[in-house]
Amino acid sequence: MNYQNILYEIKNHTGLVTINRPDKLNALNNQTINEIEDVIKSIKSNPDIFIVVITGSGEKAFVAGADIAELNNLEVISAKEFSEKGNRVFRSIETLDKPVIAAVNGFALGGGCELALACHIRIASDNAKFGQPEVNLGIIPGYGGTQRLSRVINSARALEMILTGDMISADEAFRIGLVNKVYPQAELLNKTLELAEKIASKGQQAIRFALKAVKATDNMSLSEGLSYEASLFALTCGTEDFKEGTSAFLQKRKPDFKNR
Ligand code: COA
Repeated sequence: MNYQNILYEIKNHTGLVTINRPDKLNALNNQTINEIEDVIKSIKSNPDIFIVVITGSGEKAFVAGADIAELNNLEVISAKEFSEKGNRVFRSIETLDKPVIAAVNGFALGGGCELALACHIRIASDNAKFGQPEVNLGIIPGYGGTQRLSRVINSARALEMILTGDMISADEAFRIGLVNKVYPQAELLNKTLELAEKIASKGQQAIRFALKAVKATDNMSLSEGLSYEASLFALTCGTEDFKEGTSAFLQKRKPDFKNR
């Protein structure tokens, strides 16, 4: 697929996806959603990519939401399809077997906040602003915001954001646990890529099993989760990376993981 609205490059095992409609503050129109779906599929099947970073083009916005010009044309049936499609695409990010980091470089509103929520880790620039302003348009979040926000931050705060439509600053987002770290805008991408490289330097079998185990808490009880963890832990002990990692420690050297 030839991309019109995203940029995609691979750097040191990191797939860097940049939503690229800066004149519309990277708003997600249908074409952009299709392109995100396609790039995630291609990343999934590319064994050379260990980790993904998603960011926005320009200095103003990560993603300022779904494209309101397209939203304006929705009717009941098409709206259901619109929401289901966005949920399918964002779910493909959330369930990807490689870590996905959002580098939130500005406004993350509506679908932009929801895109960041579908990622596994969120890093923000100091000018970033988060919000679910859908009620200002007479709608509710339709790309997972009502479900994921209250799983990431506490439900009263999630409701406050969703019911008021107010934006919060990067510092506030950090304080309430919506983002992992905040950096000056000029440093955001490099710091996020450094984090990606750190994760990419580990044994990738362990990284994938760890991601699987932590994400399983979404739909397992504690006892089911512990049993699942024991099974995945046992599987990691069958990998070459396990032999290499433990031997390297005992021989006081750096591990040379082959990701097998
Ligand atoms: N959909 C479509 N176009 C959008 C958009 C969106 N979600 N967000 C911004 N744009 C467009 C604007 O229409 C404008 O286009 P134009 O230059 O052709 O008129 C351009 O991006 C720049 O936005 P503008 O509003 O002029 O920038 P601003 O700095 O004054 O305000 C925001 C920035 C983010 C506060 C404002 O754009 C906004 O409120 N956007 C909508 C946010 C939203 O409700 N998102 C949820 C959608 S469900």
